Amino acid sequence: MTLPIFLYGHPILRKVAKDIPLDYPNLNTLLDNMFETMYQAEGVGLAAPQIGLEDRILVIDLSPYKEYDPSCDGFKKIFINVHILERDGTEEIMEEGCLSIPTIHEKVPRLSRIRIQYLDENLQAHDEIFEGHKARVIQHEYDHLEGVLFIDHLTGMRKQMIRSKLNKIMSGKVSCSYKVRIH
Ligand code: NI
Repeated sequence: MTLPIFLYGHPILRKVAKDIPLDYPNLNTLLDNMFETMYQAEGVGLAAPQIGLEDRILVIDLSPYKEYDPSCDGFKKIFINVHILERDGTEEIMEEGCLSIPTIHEKVPRLSRIRIQYLDENLQAHDEIFEGHKARVIQHEYDHLEGVLFIDHLTGMRKQMIRSKLNKIMSGKVSCSYKVRIH
């Protein structure tokens, strides 16, 4: 089942998400719905707050990036109760977009390497290092769990330049190929 994606301006996108209990009801259904929603919207990642939940859950599938990075082919992952332990490497700048902020694409600086701990779909614990595109997308989605959006990383001047577009999104004056919800 595809779920509506909450757009910029909805207060859920500014909340810090909480770890989920291990007996979370219907977790597999939720994960299936998150993937279906993400694929339908042609995204490479989706965080639970984007579908209105205050849960620390991310889904990612980086297969569309396989052209530039073969290791992204089949990189389909679920991150539950995820926490970033370390960020290092070099600062890299790349254009990002977000299903909750349609029509806006801006260059965002992020560190190239992260170490995270998380549970997978079988609730097995992992402590892993990710780099490159993987580190970037995980950090973008992780930001959603912290109530942060990629536009928060822009300079004041860039933010000023996208202000009117943001206002349109907030008031629902944006056309999307997927179901959305405004505040
Ligand atoms: Ni996003």
